[in-house]
Amino acid sequence: GGAGLADTRGRALRDLRISVTDRCNFRCVYCMPKELFGSDYPFMERDELLSFDEIERVAGAAVSLGVDKLRLTGGEPLLRRGIEELISRLAALRTPDGRKPDLALTTNGSALRVKAAGLREAGLDRVTVSVDSLEEHRFQAINDVRFPLARVFDGIDAAREAGLGPVKVNAVVKRGVNDDEIVPLAEHFRQRGHVLRFIEYMDVGASNGWVLDDVVPSAEIVARIDAVHPLAPVAETREGETAKRWRYRDGSGEIGVISSVTGAFCGTCTRARVSADGKLFTCLFASRGFDLRDLLRSGAGDEQVRSALAGVWSVRDDRYSELRAQLGDAAPDRERIEMSYIGG
Ligand code: GTP
Ligand code: 5AD
Ligand code: SF4
Ligand code: SF4
Repeated sequence: GGAGLADTRGRALRDLRISVTDRCNFRCVYCMPKELFGSDYPFMERDELLSFDEIERVAGAAVSLGVDKLRLTGGEPLLRRGIEELISRLAALRTPDGRKPDLALTTNGSALRVKAAGLREAGLDRVTVSVDSLEEHRFQAINDVRFPLARVFDGIDAAREAGLGPVKVNAVVKRGVNDDEIVPLAEHFRQRGHVLRFIEYMDVGASNGWVLDDVVPSAEIVARIDAVHPLAPVAETREGETAKRWRYRDGSGEIGVISSVTGAFCGTCTRARVSADGKLFTCLFASRGFDLRDLLRSGAGDEQVRSALAGVWSVRDDRYSELRAQLGDAAPDRERIEMSYIGG
């Protein structure tokens, strides 16, 4: 909290999530289904992407306004050529009180064995890797490109060895798909000292055919684990955290649950997102973004970029997940952007 820039609901701008590419080498069935993201899909061309200079300027403006957490996303961010160069530039940014912003990256883990050491050297602090299943056949059916689970595990090991830790692991839970793996997933990552976060399957994007019955409520996830490995709640360390944290009572680590559906956290949402083509979004579920690229390429100076960011944030009143929870199916239908475009 504290001073700084506030939106219409008094929420500060603290986190910037930057998508660096809309491409991915996976075709997860709930995110980039093959039928829609085929070889003819119009992915962004190189000159449509924000350049590293442009990303650095946007991030610099955000940091000057109070952002102290930067997260690189995609698609798959490690597909962006030269990502290490971008990371080293972002790692050089300083908050107004002289601190280095927390620098994280969300990845499918497929390239971590090759990239982890270089990412760490460039100044990345930590990574979050997505793993929805421990069963080889199921894991490959979800990523839909037959990517072997062992290589993702090896990537997680590489991240830990490189000092990109503690590594967080995200598991999206979908009823009837992987909810039978809640306890095994918890046990697997607890044994290895990673922080596993279960994510409620969300109605994001237009291509995943979401229905409420697909969602396994976080309360149920916690209860199922607690029945086998007793849990106790942990107080939040940072205002506006996405995950509610629980620790194992025997001291063997912690898990998190991200309840975007059953426990909307819009009230403390401090996140802004920039798509790979430079649109600024003030909500994961926004349908329109502010065109930063246009501004940058029209020759705007740093002060103009800064005041554009501040202007967009100061009129923000988004709280999609809360409204969805209140209105249910009566919530107005609206255009949605894909997760692979906005980066989750
Ligand atoms: P930490 O900094 O490690 O706590 O990570 P994080 O939770 O901010 O980032 P991560 O990319 O791991 O986010 C996990 C997932 O939470 C995302 O992929 C989304 O599914 C969900 N999520 C993150 N931010 C938001 C948000 O603002 N709104 C909603 N509805 N979901 C979000
Ligand atoms: N609901 C919840 N999480 C999702 N992700 C992708 N699509 C969805 C969805 N519909 C997750 C990915 C990854 C993160 C960036 O977002 O699995 O962990
Ligand atoms: Fe790629 Fe992540 Fe989407 Fe899977 S969920 S298709 S790994 S961006
Ligand atoms: Fe923030 Fe929008 Fe997610 Fe609510 S739905 S937590 S406002 S990004």
